[in-house]
Amino acid sequence: MSILNKILGHPLTRGLSVDDPRTTLLRQSIIQDKAFLRALYEEWYERIIGALSNKNDVLELGSGAGFFQFVLPEVITSEVFETPGVKLIADACALPLPDHSLDAIVMTDVFHHIPDVGRFFLEATRCVRPGGKIVMIEPWRTPWSEWVYTHLHSEPFYPDSGWEIPSAGPLSGANGALPWIVFQRDRALFEAQYPQWRLKNIEPMMPFSYLLSGGVSMRNLLPGWMYRPIRVLERALGQKQWAMFALIELEHAS
Ligand SMILES: C[S@@+](CC[C@H](N)C(=O)[O-])C[C@H]1O[C@@H](n2cnc3c(N)ncnc32)[C@H](O)[C@@H]1O
Repeated sequence: MSILNKILGHPLTRGLSVDDPRTTLLRQSIIQDKAFLRALYEEWYERIIGALSNKNDVLELGSGAGFFQFVLPEVITSEVFETPGVKLIADACALPLPDHSLDAIVMTDVFHHIPDVGRFFLEATRCVRPGGKIVMIEPWRTPWSEWVYTHLHSEPFYPDSGWEIPSAGPLSGANGALPWIVFQRDRALFEAQYPQWRLKNIEPMMPFSYLLSGGVSMRNLLPGWMYRPIRVLERALGQKQWAMFALIELEHAS
């Protein structure tokens, strides 16, 4: 355990494996208790909803500790393991849904845990109707974020890797650099392999706010009322070159 974790680690989940479903349950209450972090998630959800053209049949992958369904009650929440409040057990690589049954697939912090993203894109192509979307908020690579994800975060961050991630549990198996690898470094390859998907928008964002929120594994670092001023400051500083996350939007072209 790092010194930072010893000092700032959230007492509720200390000692539990990230893959233990109890960790996800405890993280649900951590997010609700931390007003600053909750405000950040609310902004993520607003941005995702703003990118949807149709909100009727929307699947959220890896709903986990999040609360997307408070904001969009009709969303089909899902998880790879039994989780209270989640409507469907679903693996991104084998969706238990009929062809052309969805308007969109959304996710926050999930794509970089999917063990076979090629398989996921085939499943998304099958299930999402033409004109539909995949919208996600994911870690993004900048020199700043690479330092943070490498030194202050427990998940692996390997920008030189391929598209596959080392096999492990649903949360411990990860490469935080994967979204950047697929949609930026290997964009030409992605477009050649999945011509059904048009990369409509990549918007790098949030250089410091997630860090200041303490995320789901650290204690609260700032009160909720400071969220808006911090976001104003981040925008004024220019978010792109320092971003830790990106909003990524894809459209099903055929
Ligand atoms: C970092 S958590 C994010 C949880 C939640 N979306 C949030 O923002 O707090 C990553 C989530 O991805 C899920 N996940 C991992 N592999 C998955 C897969 N193959 N298909 C769907 N979800 C997966 C995990 O179970 C976990 O809930």
